[in-house]
Amino acid sequence: MPETLAARARALSSAKLGDLLVRDPERATRLALQWGEWRIDFSKERVDAATLEALVAHADAIGVPRWIDALFAGERVNLSEARPALHTALRQQDDTPVRVDGQDVIPSIREAQRRIRATADAIRKGRRRGATGKPITDVVSIGIGGSDLGPRMVCDALAGTDAPPVRVSFVSNVDPEAIARALAPLDPASTAFVVISKTFTTQETLANATAARDWLARSLPGAGLGAHFIGVSANVAQAGAFGIAADDVLPMWDWVGGRYSLWSAVGLPIALRCGPDAFDALLAGAAAMDAHVRTAPLAQNAAALLALVGWWNTRWLGHTQRLVIPYSHALRELAAYLQQLVLESNGKSVGRDGAPLPAGTTPSLWGEPGTDAQHSFFQWLHQGTHSSPVEFVVPVRARHPIGDQQRLLVANALAQAQALCAGRTAETVRRELAGTGLDGAALDAAVAARVCPGNRPSTTILLPEVDPRNLGALIALYEHRTYVEGLLYGINSFDQWGVELGKTLAKPIARALIEGTGLPADADASTRALVAHAQALFARG
Ligand code: F6P
Repeated sequence: MPETLAARARALSSAKLGDLLVRDPERATRLALQWGEWRIDFSKERVDAATLEALVAHADAIGVPRWIDALFAGERVNLSEARPALHTALRQQDDTPVRVDGQDVIPSIREAQRRIRATADAIRKGRRRGATGKPITDVVSIGIGGSDLGPRMVCDALAGTDAPPVRVSFVSNVDPEAIARALAPLDPASTAFVVISKTFTTQETLANATAARDWLARSLPGAGLGAHFIGVSANVAQAGAFGIAADDVLPMWDWVGGRYSLWSAVGLPIALRCGPDAFDALLAGAAAMDAHVRTAPLAQNAAALLALVGWWNTRWLGHTQRLVIPYSHALRELAAYLQQLVLESNGKSVGRDGAPLPAGTTPSLWGEPGTDAQHSFFQWLHQGTHSSPVEFVVPVRARHPIGDQQRLLVANALAQAQALCAGRTAETVRRELAGTGLDGAALDAAVAARVCPGNRPSTTILLPEVDPRNLGALIALYEHRTYVEGLLYGINSFDQWGVELGKTLAKPIARALIEGTGLPADADASTRALVAHAQALFARG
């Protein structure tokens, strides 16, 4: 199988994408997938039907369909931590049992969903009030990583233009500027905090939650602050030690990874900001995508094809970067969310068995919304020396149409994909410059500066609009794509040991900066010098 793929890579690496489209009139149809109102177009990628066939055969051979079944069935697909990864159970629409250690988890999910709705309704309808009896008008969500990025992205995507019954803001960074700015405009008496942390030991979240508690205590001396705090955690004891009553702690479970958890009570800010019905619709949309991914054969499976093309681009064509460009203001946080989902899941260099992986694994991922990005780094995309595959994510219908603006937006997305593919040849430029008076070396230089090499691959995902249902489906699609891509690399997508080292090393440095203690003997000379310099600056402050 790898020999076939290597041969396909050799055959295609010199092919011109534009020529492939011209030579095969069926290509745009053959290399596109329809899912309901969605269309995913792979025809501007450096693949052809034979390559896709070989990729699908490879996925079959390494057991991708069996691994997809194992994910949904609650098998321990997170091998290094011997845990299932049951984010799909969180959005399952019926009550078919899903068992972990013989125990059906669906009843506990339904109970959590009842509590999410009840908590959101109580605050949105003014039944849950602050210590002084004022209704809650503002909620600050405190969490980081998977306990922040999902609900932050979804709340922003679905925010719309209506004034919500409750304003929701997010604080993640331990930088005091973040919480200081969030608190400054708020009235303590009508502000509540949702503290989201699976472990309830995360340094940034605890520091921000403590700052919030101190802020409330200063403004509401003597008042019981319990009404102002809701926890979301798997560690009820630690949340209790912080001061959140067990009844106010909504659950998280060790069978759902942080970056896959927005479907659980981690999504409480979504239910608060957008309403419990919108949260339910988000789950229903994700469930619809789950059903597709679970049942569609690999050759017609959106997640599998996206993963296979992504893996092909990196493993066989050598691309080390991947750009995701949503043509959607509502999806402006998508790339930040995907950076954690994809890079924390698949940014690894050993396989599930601990053996080093043979070639480059998941590429870096970045992006900004179009059209802004066109006026920023697209120059690099069109004429830079690196060619990086782009995913254009294009919701077609506007939620708030104004004139022709949405059509202009969509036109720009399609034009950029076309431009990356076709480029602009020297002959075309020369024709355009004819009659401008330029000639000789000046003309040659002008032509060279204007030529776009093109032949740069992209995938275009057209979806109907950014509503809760389609957004749920989009996120679920990216989750499944990430899992399948992990399988292709041979990676366990559900652990994240790499982030632990920095957390461990931060502790003695923090002690040195806070208490003036010495650094451990093995701290390097550069770190020692930087700590000393920072200490001197703190001393002068
Ligand atoms: O930094 C890694 C990480 O462990 C993420 O995987 C997780 O989502 C985040 O930190 C926050 O963890 P917690 O929810 O336990 O506060």
